[in-house]
Amino acid sequence: MGIKDLISSKVSLAPMAGITDYVLRSLIREHSKTCLLTTEMISSEALTQVKDTDIVARDENHSPISYQLSGHKPKMIADCAEYLQRYADMIDINMGCPVNKVVKGTDGCALMRNPELAEEIVRTVKSQISIPLSVKFRLGYTFDELNFVEYGQRMQAAGADFITIHGRTRSQMYGGKADWKKIAELKRNVDIPVFANGDVVSIETAEQCLEESQADGVAIGRGVLGDPSLIARVEHYFATGEVLPPPSLEEKIAGMKKHLMREVEFRGEDIGLKFVRKFYPYYVNGFPGASRYRGELVLMNSLDEINRKLDDIALQSSKNMLV
Ligand SMILES: Cc1cc2nc3c(=O)[nH]c(=O)nc-3n(C[C@H](O)[C@H](O)[C@H](O)COP(=O)(O)O)c2cc1C
Repeated sequence: MGIKDLISSKVSLAPMAGITDYVLRSLIREHSKTCLLTTEMISSEALTQVKDTDIVARDENHSPISYQLSGHKPKMIADCAEYLQRYADMIDINMGCPVNKVVKGTDGCALMRNPELAEEIVRTVKSQISIPLSVKFRLGYTFDELNFVEYGQRMQAAGADFITIHGRTRSQMYGGKADWKKIAELKRNVDIPVFANGDVVSIETAEQCLEESQADGVAIGRGVLGDPSLIARVEHYFATGEVLPPPSLEEKIAGMKKHLMREVEFRGEDIGLKFVRKFYPYYVNGFPGASRYRGELVLMNSLDEINRKLDDIALQSSKNMLV
């Protein structure tokens, strides 16, 4: 698949470590047959040590899918990328992660302060793979170092086929608001396709982001939390102009049950139940008593008990008895 086919729906899933795992990617794919899925960030150091890991799992429905690698050693990243071609339709390099332990090791967004090394990574990976290669970065490291236009041009010249840009700086982490208008400056100055990322959480914000950024599409991260159908609704809107409604409370609770069951199948009951706790705030919210219910759910250690509680929440809400 060429880059145009991979991004034809104009919407991708942004990579999120510990979130966009095999299960969530599968749930999103059940709603959208066409969006570009992305794995969580896969450390090239870790993958070099252990190849047989859950993080690379996929099934036949996951295409189009991009596998994201992090690291700073060009040959190591390229060897991992070459290996991942057995799973991936595209390789993405993480140049935007802001967290301390990543940037301290010159990975993630630290690469924006070292464009020579970033170029070498892109050139080396490109020479070892036959599928498209993309990069994901931010506006810059700080507001005094807004090098995203030149940086994007350099990545393009080094061989990148596609860019996802998060409209924040590293120093902002996840605070403030993503600046979609700045992304238009990058779009004007490169020839390869660009997806805009940051704060797209609805059809309305997707449309506004696309208009302000003039990008070729949007990458959606946190918006899919508790709402795996969001990407499909945005794609549907881009294709038809029709606005489909967000899931009702009952649909969200049913979605939580499905997510829970799939994680238990994937990870086993003990680990699966602990893993899903981070998703409760996103599925069980927006009604009186939601935080009390969440407090009860996180203390539960049996699938049956949690399912009964979720059924109870759905029943109470359908009777409009939630207090
Ligand atoms: C929990 C979490 C984990 C993330 N992990 C990654 C990652 O592994 N690789 C990456 O490039 N970005 C990662 N990001 C950043 C997202 O891909 C995205 O750029 C950011 O959340 C802004 O988009 P959003 O507002 O749509 O969430 C992560 C974000 C969150 C919240």
